[in-house]
Amino acid sequence: MSEATGEPVTSTLFYNPLDPKVHANPYPMFRRMREEDPVHWSDLMEAWILTRYDDVVSVLTDSRFSANRREARNRFAQEAMRIEEEFGPFGRTQTMLTSDPPEHTRLRKLVSKAFTARTVENLRPRIQKIVDELLDALRGDGRFDVIQDLAYPLPVIVIAEMLGVPPEERARFKQWSNEIVATLGGAFAPPEVLERGRQSVLELAGYFQGVIAERRREPKDDLVSGLIAAEEQGQVLSEDEMLATAMLLLVAGNETTTNLIGNGMLALLRNPDQLERLRDDPSLIQSAVEELLRYDGPVQGTGRVAREDLEIDGRHVEAGQVVFTLLGAADHDPARFENPDELDIGRKDNPHVAFGDGIHFCLGAALARAEAQTAIGTLLQRFPDPRLAGDEVQWGGTFIIRGLKALPISF
Ligand code: HEM
Repeated sequence: MSEATGEPVTSTLFYNPLDPKVHANPYPMFRRMREEDPVHWSDLMEAWILTRYDDVVSVLTDSRFSANRREARNRFAQEAMRIEEEFGPFGRTQTMLTSDPPEHTRLRKLVSKAFTARTVENLRPRIQKIVDELLDALRGDGRFDVIQDLAYPLPVIVIAEMLGVPPEERARFKQWSNEIVATLGGAFAPPEVLERGRQSVLELAGYFQGVIAERRREPKDDLVSGLIAAEEQGQVLSEDEMLATAMLLLVAGNETTTNLIGNGMLALLRNPDQLERLRDDPSLIQSAVEELLRYDGPVQGTGRVAREDLEIDGRHVEAGQVVFTLLGAADHDPARFENPDELDIGRKDNPHVAFGDGIHFCLGAALARAEAQTAIGTLLQRFPDPRLAGDEVQWGGTFIIRGLKALPISF
């Protein structure tokens, strides 16, 4: 019997997302879970773990589940919330990511204009210029690190510009961004990392307060001015919420996009036929990036809290229990994707959930796509024959946001 649920344990599965072997390649484990116990209770994580595509989509689109982890009966979620409140970028302010309607609707609507496909299309020339500059700056010794030299700086520069940070402040902004992102390991982050994160949150908040005051005096064509205009049109957005929103855009969009470019390039390097196919037919770049999102997406899972007692596939889920949807597992479900473990950059039927689903579907999806398409497309045009430098890669990040520490290539 499971202690937490009182139900018979139906499987000997032990899913430990922190096991380095599982982290380096979680897909065999995901397959076992999907086949042996698709609605799996994990005593370790104190949560239900879902691995089938249909179950994941059902939960993410069902209003009986809340995104507000404060309501969770789960030790880790409680501890993570406590640490986030003390050290994290939002303090006690709720952001759209962890709120439910009607707050979610209000918070999301205020910034959604800046992230529509049309707005992002207008940013493409600027994204291209940044990618070109980053690749121009390479040392020219026949090798470089895709992460350090391209995937990491690109999204920070783009979001900094959208938020109205001038180029001379970029280095400082990037430093703050790094130190804040490093705290997101929550309960697992070392104390000195948490402390540096807290300091950076304070400094960045001070910086943004200055930008907000400036834009109130003299609006520009940027996101912060847009938030102020929305507020002045009578839509309530407190200054704390404005700050928390700016911080959310910073933390939600950087490591994720870096990892899409990194994991994506690694997948292509390990499947040279697909790399050649893309290099020889650049018009495949859009479907290629969708396939890279599906094949090894940067966000492996997300949690919800059941608001009421309910059943998933005959298993009884109690109000307050956490249900963790493994997006990476759903995207390899053979019931939804043909040959799911094969990389096919021309895949036609590809409704992956790498950006989530339902009302919390990634706000930055169009931006992330444009950045990854530009970065990977340009890289293959300028360096048509890249090779992995070294046999092994080192995985970093967390089991939720999974990515490479470095990706050295030679050409
Ligand atoms: C490849 C890159 C990215 C991936 C894989 C990704 C993935 C996701 C996922 C899975 C969610 C849903 C989380 C949930 O349901 O709990 C999400 C939400 C979100 N993402 Fe992204 N993201 C990426 C890039 C970005 C970028 C570039 C931005 C903005 C600059 C961004 C901003 C957001 C925001 C604000 C939310 C919360 C939306 C809401 O709660 O309504 N993301 N993202």
